Amino acid sequence: MSTPMAALIQLTLFCFVVSNLFLSGVLATTFTLSNKCEYTVWPGILTNPGVAAISTTGFALQKDETKTINAPAAWAGRFWGRTLCSEDSTGKFSCATGDCGSGKVECSGSGAVPPATLAEFTLNGAGGMDFFDLSLVDGYNLAMQVTPQGGTGNNCTTTSCIGDLNGSCPSELKVTSVDGKESVACKSACLAFQQPQYCCSGAYSTPDVCKPSNYSQIFKNFCPDAYSYAYDDKTSTFTCAHADYLITFCPPLSTSQKSSQEQTTTTSPSINGTGGTGTMTYEGVSSLDGSGASRSTWTHLSGSHAIVGAISITVALWQLL
Ligand SMILES: *[C@@H]1O[C@H](CO)[C@@H](O)[C@H](O)[C@H]1NC(C)=O
Ligand SMILES: *[C@@H]1O[C@H](CO)[C@@H](O)[C@H](O)[C@H]1NC(C)=O
Ligand SMILES: *[C@@H]1O[C@H](CO)[C@@H](O)[C@H](O)[C@H]1NC(C)=O
Ligand SMILES: *[C@@H]1O[C@H](CO)[C@@H](O)[C@H](O)[C@H]1NC(C)=O
Repeated sequence: MSTPMAALIQLTLFCFVVSNLFLSGVLATTFTLSNKCEYTVWPGILTNPGVAAISTTGFALQKDETKTINAPAAWAGRFWGRTLCSEDSTGKFSCATGDCGSGKVECSGSGAVPPATLAEFTLNGAGGMDFFDLSLVDGYNLAMQVTPQGGTGNNCTTTSCIGDLNGSCPSELKVTSVDGKESVACKSACLAFQQPQYCCSGAYSTPDVCKPSNYSQIFKNFCPDAYSYAYDDKTSTFTCAHADYLITFCPPLSTSQKSSQEQTTTTSPSINGTGGTGTMTYEGVSSLDGSGASRSTWTHLSGSHAIVGAISITVALWQLL
């Protein structure tokens, strides 16, 4: 093979790869999980039925650690945090709050045992918008915040449930640690009393009939942006187009703006060669997440990508002449 030919092939491949990575960064949605708690959190991820799943379903996130994962197009599901987790002598993994019952770090299709604070997403839903919320409908175990990055829309803003609700949790809803000394989570009234007026079930299954309760109001006062009961949509549902999302556990009280800006710089797509794109931002070692990145890249390797590939080849030829 002649040297110019080899150079042409190399250049073509380079342009093709770079342009694909760039476009994937723009088209795919990334979730960046950040742990600002003073302790390790084990995020759990559950994909809704009938939707292509995210490649990981659970992992450990050390204090101050950040991990970015890619979501398939039109993904829908939830994130939550598990706390006070450990492995017993037989190797069974379990957590004091948010446990998914899998016995392993990966939840593999199981959801959180309530109470657990949930961050819920439906990407590319009605009108091409992403819908997201924080929910305390299943109770509370951790302060969480969702910050959209680079999206557009009227309700494309940060939603947060900041602070430590287990401190202001009424005693009848409190969940304490095994030794009974520490309050670790707060049940919803639905979970604690299993009554239709709290669960918006049975005779209370419509928004007109199921009103906020004295208990849901405690949650609402504490976290005004989060769902405090099933029909809390008006003040709790947020929408963005074309955003990536930063999910923070134990968000700092005063620096939510700052952390959102920090993250914007680390996850924005970049065209300057080695800088990396949003989809390439990955600060962990799990090969599962790595394969997620490549799957996402190939999923989007169609249509506009083929056109860009053709342009890359044309540019490469032109540069050689
Ligand atoms: C709330 O729970 C966390 C652990 O999940 C614990 O560290 C903290 O002390 C609790 N807060 C109160 C006020 O009990
Ligand atoms: C909420 O209301 C119920 C009855 O309506 C009452 O038994 C309960 O003590 C109240 N709880 C709080 C925290 O206000
Ligand atoms: C979203 O925007 C609409 C009006 O455009 C508003 O009525 C609604 O309360 C907003 N939702 C939130 C959660 O801010
Ligand atoms: C290039 O990438 C580096 C790091 O990835 C970034 O700091 C820098 O601002 C980028 N430059 C341009 C012009 O985008």
